[in-house]
Amino acid sequence: MHASAALAADVEYVPPASPPVDLVVLEVAMPQPSAAAVDREQLRAAIREEYALVATDPGQPFHFHTGRPLAAMLGYEERWLEGISEEALASFAGTGNPFLAGEVAAGERVVDVGCGAGLDTLIAARRVTASGRVVGIDMTPAMLERARAAARAADADNVELRQGYAEELPVPDGWADLVISNGVLNLAPDKSAAFAELARVLRPGGRLQIGDLLVDRPVPESAKAKIDLWTG
Ligand SMILES: C[S@@+](CC[C@H](N)C(=O)[O-])C[C@H]1O[C@@H](n2cnc3c(N)ncnc32)[C@H](O)[C@@H]1O
Repeated sequence: MHASAALAADVEYVPPASPPVDLVVLEVAMPQPSAAAVDREQLRAAIREEYALVATDPGQPFHFHTGRPLAAMLGYEERWLEGISEEALASFAGTGNPFLAGEVAAGERVVDVGCGAGLDTLIAARRVTASGRVVGIDMTPAMLERARAAARAADADNVELRQGYAEELPVPDGWADLVISNGVLNLAPDKSAAFAELARVLRPGGRLQIGDLLVDRPVPESAKAKIDLWTG
């Protein structure tokens, strides 16, 4: 949705016939916006503003899908959503379904990068059971507030929510068995830095399950420079 919006501005964009696919293909080179194309701090401020609204007022119209209808569209089963607060569900804004890319086992340590209001974090928390642990990380305080409230409401004692950036994850080297992420990497201008961080926090043999957007043709530089195309 975000990257698609960027494309739509300058080149003809043909929407996919089916909903965004969840998948993880590390060999696919995600487009690399040049560092100079967009001011990182300005972009972060605009993203924070947009997603603070998704956290605090999810009922208003956005240019992307949100909430329970989005979860259904992306293949989240009703039973996965049980015990998760309606508030966290309403602010769900993923672009795929990391859980279709592989299992999550009891006892595992999981990092959810760009956890938003915490839907994926809480689904993972139930799967890892009390012997596992899930750390959700997001840069938007309003989203973290929603996620923390949702974790409390779900009695998810194995969850910790931390403020941080995908490009500088507040997680030790090799800590995670599994890193999940949903709809976040398309918002990161320096994708190499973000992927390097995902790799750093994974233990050897750890897994990466990402739901995100892939474009199959270059995004014009002029589009990359427009912050409103990144956020909306
Ligand atoms: C599209 S929402 C998806 C949220 C959540 N993963 C979900 O599925 O609902 C993107 C989230 O990523 C966060 N975000 C964007 N760029 C980030 C970055 N560089 N580092 C950390 N979080 C980021 C935003 O604050 C927002 O909560």
